[in-house]
Formats: sequence, structure tokens, C-alpha cells
Amino acid sequence: MNDTLTLNPNISKTAAVIEWVQQRMDSQIYKPYQRVPSVRKLAMILDVSSFTVTQAYEQLVATNVLMAKPNSGYYVLPQVNYDRNPELVEKEAMVDTSWLVQQMLNDIPNHRAPGSGELPVEWIKNDRMQWAVRQVNQDIDSFIYNYGETQGYLPLREQLVQYLDLLGIHTSADNIITTTGVSQAILTVIQLLLNVDDTVLVDSPGWYWTSSTLQQQGYQVVSVERDHQGPNIERMRQILEEYRPKLYITNSVLHNPTSYNLHPARAHQVLNLMHEYDVCIFEDDLYAAFLPDEKPLRYANIDQFERVFYATGFSKSMASGWRVGMLASPDRFIKQILKLKTLSNMTSPEFGERVVHRLWTQGEYRRQLKKVHQKLYIAHQDMRDALFKIGITYPEHTNPGIFVWIDTGVDSGKLALEAYKEGWLVAPGQLFNPSAQPSTYLRLNVATTSHEFLRWLDVYISSQHK
Ligand SMILES: Cc1ncc(COP(=O)(O)O)c(C=O)c1O
Repeated sequence: MNDTLTLNPNISKTAAVIEWVQQRMDSQIYKPYQRVPSVRKLAMILDVSSFTVTQAYEQLVATNVLMAKPNSGYYVLPQVNYDRNPELVEKEAMVDTSWLVQQMLNDIPNHRAPGSGELPVEWIKNDRMQWAVRQVNQDIDSFIYNYGETQGYLPLREQLVQYLDLLGIHTSADNIITTTGVSQAILTVIQLLLNVDDTVLVDSPGWYWTSSTLQQQGYQVVSVERDHQGPNIERMRQILEEYRPKLYITNSVLHNPTSYNLHPARAHQVLNLMHEYDVCIFEDDLYAAFLPDEKPLRYANIDQFERVFYATGFSKSMASGWRVGMLASPDRFIKQILKLKTLSNMTSPEFGERVVHRLWTQGEYRRQLKKVHQKLYIAHQDMRDALFKIGITYPEHTNPGIFVWIDTGVDSGKLALEAYKEGWLVAPGQLFNPSAQPSTYLRLNVATTSHEFLRWLDVYISSQHK
């Protein structure tokens, strides 16, 4: 587009500034997550008053086009396409995080969603859930009219302490807070440790929500490649040297999207680097429940809460709707963490915490999980065979978690769009890379990937090689 500094004279000045900014966003001069010019600078450029620019920016904030960050400026928000019309998707020719998350939260049936991030309800549905709810309901008068304890429902925290003890991670109920999911635990630690413009290290591939959230909040995100043993140490050292991140956010066990664990030697090397460069680790262990018999090493095992924050939750293994998770913090930070919880939601809803506790302590959860482990194991065996038949390698070091991370050999972003047109929801590799680099990888959910989809995949890949 012509980079004209002339405003549309036929509309009000504020409307003209809005139009001017939007045209620049449409033509990608201002890209998602980028800062737009400051109020004063734009007022000078367009020869209007600061008041007009402020009004225009505020209207763009109100309509979710821009985001205002205190003491930092205005940032472009990515625009979500809520329309399922395939032509529109193709026109935009992009599969970005917001798009995928939106689709994930839509009601796409499981058998059409090989890219889903959850197990089917039938897999995790617990027959005793209603019973647990009724039990908690009986006590409702004793707690529902109060905010409850800031730190979270004590019996659940005590149960978590025992559970972590079995994993070789030792803490106390005083150093644990309950959160509304691991995602809130991440937000809490970000708020605790980071200032505007700080840098955070994440894995590539890695769970897309973390990097998108960080970018949206204006933090710099750098990523380190990760394989079946953990992050690439040489690269990690270079990144620490160059960017000096304050925090490394990682999902060490049954990693999303690869279902890889962490090699003990690698874990030690990473922690040594973290000491050397004074970096804290946020260890996201959401998938812990899917590996109860083996006890793969986590960073928290070695570090024992010197610089590791450890979080887990019940979203994938029990019920995401309860929004129950926990955060265990190094001793030196717990007071501040509590303060942050008090100053945000004050407390987390106790009803869900009580139900989770009730199911867990009655053994129902454990029984349910045993069935899930068997199903996951079988699903991985089937997946290995099915992939082999269409000439795709099942990665050797995959553990029986929810996902398998496959190399399709073709651009999986393009593949995702074609799949979407035919009613499939898939999760292409570029989503798991913070800089959204094109990728040939695809994350498959072993429980929702049907043979029908794999046949589609086979035909699609062959058509690309012609
Ligand atoms: C690695 C990882 N961490 C955290 C979450 C979200 O956890 P929660 O629902 O407890 O906020 C997800 C969800 O997909 C995830 O994949």
C-alpha cells in the first residue's frame, strides 16, 4: 500500500486515525503483538492532537484490535476468525494460535479432531463424579458463603504434598497454592518474576499457549530446540548468554506436543546452566498423572525448590471444567505468590477443589487412571502400526501420553487448512514454534486420530509429492 500520511477528510478525525491504523494492520505494517507508535509520535506524524490519537487508540482497545499495556504502549492483538467458512480461512491462508485454540474450544466431534488436546470424555469420565459432587454438596453451607482460604483447600494441598512425595519431590502444604489450572500458575509466576520487556525461554516445539500469552503481554520469547532427551544444551547456553532470560518455562514430562520425557543427564546440565545464569524454571507437569508407575525425573526432583516452580493439575486426567491446579513454589517466593493470588482472584473456587479431593482420596481417580493408561498404551501400539502402513515413522522415544509428534514431510500449515476444509481439526507444527516457522510436523492425539483421518493424510501427502 502507499504509505500516505493523509487522513480521510470525509470522516471525523478520530475515525480517520482509526481507519489509518487499521489499514496498516491489514497490510501487515503493524503485525500482531507489535507495538504501534506512541500517542505523541502518531499525533506528530499525522498532524493531529494527542487527544485525537488517544481517543482512536482507546476505541481500538475497546474493540479488541489493540491492547494497552501500562507504561509500555499499545500493541496489536491478533485477529481471530470465528467463521467456519472455508473460503474465508483460505483467504487468510494462515493457521495461528488463536484460530486453533478457538477451534479446539468449539464443538468439533472427537472423531473429526486428530489435533485435539484432550482425551475423549468417555476415557476420563468417572462414574463416581456425581457421587463426589453430592458429597461436597452436603457440606456446602459450611464453606460456600465464605471466600475460603487464599492458599486453597488445605486437605487438597496436603494430598498434593503426599503425591509429590511419591514422585520424589518434597515440599509442604505451606509452599503450595491452588490455582485455576496450570495456566493460571504460569500467569502468576510471570507476574512474580518478570518486568516489561524481559525475556523468557521456552521449548520449541512447546505448548503454544505459553509463548502466545507471553508475546501478548509484551515479553520477549526465545526458544530452544528440544529433542527426546530435553533441550539442546549448546544452544541453551548461547541463548542464555545472548538474551539473559529470567525464566525458563518447560513441560518436562510427557511433553506437549512430543510425549517425550527428560533424560537425567540433560536435566542436570540444564539446572547447572540455570544456576550459572541465575534463571528460574517453571516446570509444567500437567500430564504427570499419565505416568504413575514409572517416575521419570523432573527438574523439581533435583532442584527441590531452590529455583524451580512446579505446577500440575487435573484438566487432562480428571475434568478440565473444574479448573483445579496447583503451584509449588520455592520458599523464598511463597509470600509474594500468596500476595499475588490475593490481589488477583483473592481465592480459587473451593467447590471444585473439594470435589477433586473427594474423588482422589476415595481411590476413584486412581482406578480411572489405570484404565486410561491401558487405553493409551494400546492406542500407541495401534498408532505405530497405522503410521507404518502409510509410510510415516512413529518416533521411537514417544511415551504413552496423549500425543504423538510425526513428520509428514510436507508443509503441515497448508495441510491443516486443506484438512479443515474437509472438516478435520489438526494441529500443525508451526503452532508449537514460538516464531511460527513453517513445519512438516503434526501433533496427533492418539485417542482421537481415526483410521479415516490417516487415510486422508496418506492421500494428501501423496498428492503433494506428485
Ligand atoms: C503443557 C500444558 N500445560 C498446561 C495446560 C493447561 O492446563 P490447565 O487446564 O490446568 O490450565 C495445557 C493444556 O493443553 C498444556 O498442554
